[in-house]
Amino acid sequence: MSTHVQEIKDRLDVAAVVSSYIKLDKSGANYKARCPFHNEKTPSFYVSPERGSFYCFGCGAKGDIFTFVEKFEGLDFMGALKVLAERAGVVLDRVVKTDNRKELLYEILEKATEYFEQKIEEEKHAKAYALGRGLSESTLSSFRVGYAPNDWRQLRSYLASKGYRDADVEAVGLIKKTDKPGGDPYYDVFRGRIMFPISDTSGRVVAFTGRIVVDDGKSPKYLNSPETALYSKSKTLYGLDKAKSDIRKRDYSILVEGQMDLVMSHQAGFTNTVAASGTAFTEDRGADSAFGLLTRLSDNIVVAFDSDAAGQKAVKRIVPAIALGMNVKIVDIKGGKDPADIIKANPKDWTKALESKKDFIEYLADAIKDSNASPAAVAKTVKEDLFPYVAAIPDDTPRFQAIKKIADRLALSEDALWKDLQEYVKKNRPGGAQSSFGKAEGPPSRRLDRLESIERKALGILYSNRYMKGGADRKRELQGVVGEARMKEFETLSSDDLAELTLEAEVTYGDSDIEKEYKMLLLTLEEEYLNKRLEDATMALHKAEKGKEDVEGIMKSIQAFTTRKQEIRRLITRL
Ligand code: GTP
Ligand code: MN
Repeated sequence: MSTHVQEIKDRLDVAAVVSSYIKLDKSGANYKARCPFHNEKTPSFYVSPERGSFYCFGCGAKGDIFTFVEKFEGLDFMGALKVLAERAGVVLDRVVKTDNRKELLYEILEKATEYFEQKIEEEKHAKAYALGRGLSESTLSSFRVGYAPNDWRQLRSYLASKGYRDADVEAVGLIKKTDKPGGDPYYDVFRGRIMFPISDTSGRVVAFTGRIVVDDGKSPKYLNSPETALYSKSKTLYGLDKAKSDIRKRDYSILVEGQMDLVMSHQAGFTNTVAASGTAFTEDRGADSAFGLLTRLSDNIVVAFDSDAAGQKAVKRIVPAIALGMNVKIVDIKGGKDPADIIKANPKDWTKALESKKDFIEYLADAIKDSNASPAAVAKTVKEDLFPYVAAIPDDTPRFQAIKKIADRLALSEDALWKDLQEYVKKNRPGGAQSSFGKAEGPPSRRLDRLESIERKALGILYSNRYMKGGADRKRELQGVVGEARMKEFETLSSDDLAELTLEAEVTYGDSDIEKEYKMLLLTLEEEYLNKRLEDATMALHKAEKGKEDVEGIMKSIQAFTTRKQEIRRLITRL
């Protein structure tokens, strides 16, 4: 496979590939554009034909043609490989052969989907049920909604007649084996159900959810496929294949609960909607966890779960999204309805409901406020019900803002809350949410903060030989600003990182006065560090006021930081 990858890279020019998706402008030896992976007005996205790579200063997105196609089209590596192989005219015979088994499983699921699609046409009562729920003919066909007949062996016999072995059909979760001795041991899993195929991000069916048509009082209303070699419940979101490009365009996603909610949302034009149904929302913050997939498309998410008890419980599932640094808003759905009901009655009401969204902290705090509990009970509820969310916020500043909001809304003491939170965090430490320079352990799409991006620019100049004059002195100057410990961290940069920093320096400082730029960078960097220290000092002051500990000392450093900041401003204007 690696020879395929190399062959494709040799045949395709990175600028040609990227420019088939976005408009590129020439910039020296490179090209630049407005970054397709985050919202920006001025271009900070660069493509280097020489290196065969792209890089965005704004959001840190980077990689080669494979990464670009993966990110842009929301494909996995194999998907991107297929797209690019076709473009390069490379035949992937060996890839297909090595993955024969998986291809066979996909094929069985595809055949089953076609079978169910045919059955919903044949069995009029099933079709009538689907239409009666408000689904249109065109929605049924675009979501490939089908029907599994109310019979024990129809699907199994059909697939067997097409030559698929029971063991393979069982492996995709469509049939099961009984323990009962004698007779035919295999039977269909989905019977008498409207079938919603679940696809991976490239649109291939990997599983199903079936909704019962005639309630028999004992079967579950909804039934999902089990986990299989193709279907991982923590990495799949229903509807993502259809929603991904609009999530990127609109720069937010809407997360609803059920299959019907999802399909009705898309039908009404809310095409940036995905559904949680069947998805396991784990603490996993990996790039391919459910929320990891969403942050790649947009950091903004609007969560719309039912207002019933189950829906309230479901809100807990947003914790990993908060931990990823996503901007989470919640829609309060009143009156025990769900999005599907609301949209069926009148799509405009759903627009209105979405407009009523609140920041998750405000939503949760208001829910406590509305309970009209005594102040003592409120304080207790905040600790038990709200702190898990607040503690998940990865940075101190937004965490502090969350505490402020809670204090405001619930008339509690900000100081007391802040102290309690520190204790809570200490007791429940989830295991290092700190991101660290140059390491990939932070959340996948976390944007570099300003400070980090200035550091990178300074390092780029320092490490790129072309600009290194008086290198040792320059290094010392940088260390003077960032400190010795930080400087040590820089030394652990990988060669990939170094190559990237150098590219960054080249495209940024191609023909400018590098001496002046470096001075400017160091001053700006110092200013950013001062801002951070001021923030910390302000927080420390806040915490200290009650205990009267060293308030004076903190005030003095705040004064000193402020004075130095003014000096820096003057120096910068004189440069
Ligand atoms: P409809 O009754 O078809 O409108 O579905 P709903 O979405 O209104 O169902 P409900 O509010 O009862 O449940 C919300 C979601 O939970 C559903 O969409 C399903 O994804 C899931 N769910 C409901 N019942 C079951 C069940 O019996 N088993 C499983 N696995 N999931 C269920
Ligand atoms: Mn419903």
